[in-house]
Amino acid sequence: MAVFASGEGSNLQALLDRFNHEDHSPARVELVVGSRPGIGALERAASAGVPTMVWSPAEPALLLQRLEADAIDLVVLAGWLRLVPPAVVHRYQARMINIHPALLPAFGGAGMYGARVHEAVLAAGVRVSGATVHFVDDEYDSGRILAQWPVPVLRSDTPAELAARVLQAEHRILPAVVDSLARGEDPAIASWLPSYP
Ligand code: GRF
Repeated sequence: MAVFASGEGSNLQALLDRFNHEDHSPARVELVVGSRPGIGALERAASAGVPTMVWSPAEPALLLQRLEADAIDLVVLAGWLRLVPPAVVHRYQARMINIHPALLPAFGGAGMYGARVHEAVLAAGVRVSGATVHFVDDEYDSGRILAQWPVPVLRSDTPAELAARVLQAEHRILPAVVDSLARGEDPAIASWLPSYP
């Protein structure tokens, strides 16, 4: 798989920890694409000995060429805040997934990323949020949902506290979905149910 990231890379780290130290799964991070230099995700990749690439929107063809040259089977968007070139989305139809820090279709779509998601969740007064992994298609956050996991919203939550709790769920759900896809299985929630106090 190739992991696309624009920030700290904690979801990337969860994938590296799960798949790049042992051979229990067919899945393995083979390339990390960063939307700009100097982000945590690129440092985490370098520490794990995984090749990296900084992608410039000015050169859409280069991205697809690299993915094909590296025989990438699955693209994972983990905190990727740029548009993915349509040529790449189409080439990786049903082989590109994204993780979103809310229970889509709620609190998703253009402009709904990072703290804005959790601010909207708290403003709406909902009692449950969570993480969603879905296939990527031409629209933001609208592809077929593969897996979701609920996270409680506490009355005292700040956006940062809710984000941290949702991130815990992300770090569990994303590797589990990647492993299922790599094994040709439908992600089965029961086998990896994260428990909350
Ligand atoms: C996560 O909250 C993810 O849901 C969102 O961007 C954030 C990525 O965090 N898409 P990290 O860079 O993986 O730590």
